[in-house]
Amino acid sequence: MYDILSVRKDFPVLEEVIYLDSGATTQTPVQAVNSMNDYFFKYAANHGRGAHRLARQTTDHYEDARDIVAEFLNIGSDGTIFTKNATESINMVSLGLKWETGDHVVTTVVEHHSNLLPWMRLREQGVEVTVVGSDREGNVDPKDIDEAITDRTRLVSVNHVSNVFGSVRDVKKITQIAHRSEVLSLVDGSQSAGHMPVDIKNIECDFFITPGHKGLLGPQGTGVLCIKDPEILEPVYVGGGTVHAVTTESYELEPYPSKFEAGTPNIPGIIGLGRAVEYVKDIGVEAIEKHEKELAQDTATRLAEIVGVEVYGPKDRTGVVPFNVQGMNPHDVAMILDETRKICVRSGYHCAMPSVDLIGVEGTVRASFALYNTKEEVDSLIEGVEQITMLI
Ligand SMILES: Cc1ncc(COP(=O)(O)O)c(C=O)c1O
Repeated sequence: MYDILSVRKDFPVLEEVIYLDSGATTQTPVQAVNSMNDYFFKYAANHGRGAHRLARQTTDHYEDARDIVAEFLNIGSDGTIFTKNATESINMVSLGLKWETGDHVVTTVVEHHSNLLPWMRLREQGVEVTVVGSDREGNVDPKDIDEAITDRTRLVSVNHVSNVFGSVRDVKKITQIAHRSEVLSLVDGSQSAGHMPVDIKNIECDFFITPGHKGLLGPQGTGVLCIKDPEILEPVYVGGGTVHAVTTESYELEPYPSKFEAGTPNIPGIIGLGRAVEYVKDIGVEAIEKHEKELAQDTATRLAEIVGVEVYGPKDRTGVVPFNVQGMNPHDVAMILDETRKICVRSGYHCAMPSVDLIGVEGTVRASFALYNTKEEVDSLIEGVEQITMLI
């Protein structure tokens, strides 16, 4: 187990609040923030576009970040593309594959809107979309995915971990099911990367996407799209940075990953992401997973013991704990926790209305954990919720 108190020193805001909203975005360690300051103060220039020393230094740091992220997720650097968030990464796949009328996509009801809408919009092009169901705890049976696959299915797109329930998908099995029928697979790792070991080569998925600003502890405005075979995807954006030969009649695209990164990227953010991933690696993702799971399971058990509180999601959960206080709006609960104890939790439908519909509520309160949370913070949440139930 790592030294949690020394970890907390790397996240100064934790002296001010109890931050239990890492499912939305995590805090970024000072080491990563300092690496971004270094960029601005010592060598800021554009990436890949100049011979001078600052441009070379910038390019080196940016490409180092690519190598760090690729190694951490176990995929080649060539297939690791930087984007601005998970949503952009998924849209780059839905818009970058060539679709024909009658093609078919399989996804699930427990997806974030960002892994639903990009496929639902394809219906306008005659693509059929099947949304496979789940149980009330957010578990999807891989058999249902298998049964949904037809001879026109092109892609299966599922999350690794649900942001509403914390339920975990057996993504290797789902990818194997897809590949047996020669269907592509996309894994939305927004709630898994950095929270649990992720080995993309082992999962064997065709696309793995993750934001940089959640479990990887990078800054907002960073995302990753990993592609097993980048030849199968067309770039959505073209322009500067993506080509090596242009006339007014034609152009030749750069090899990947450059052809997928049009225009000036979020250079400081990506450099910060690289440093943040090193930080996660140094602590050890297995230890992080164990710590977050213990906190979440303890929270779920203790919340469920409070009369008037309903907890959702499976017993074997990651660091996501959704709950409601009977008769109270989740936003009110979140506001009271903030006002009384400076506890920051998310409330509402978590950008996943169909998931929340499954449990027949309009929204939930969601406590979500990261490597820097403590047992004392869980105690405070439990006491805070107990006090709220006394108001009913
Ligand atoms: C499972 C899942 N997918 C996609 C997203 C979208 O991430 P981003 O805001 O980085 O686009 C989120 C964000 O919460 C998520 O939890």
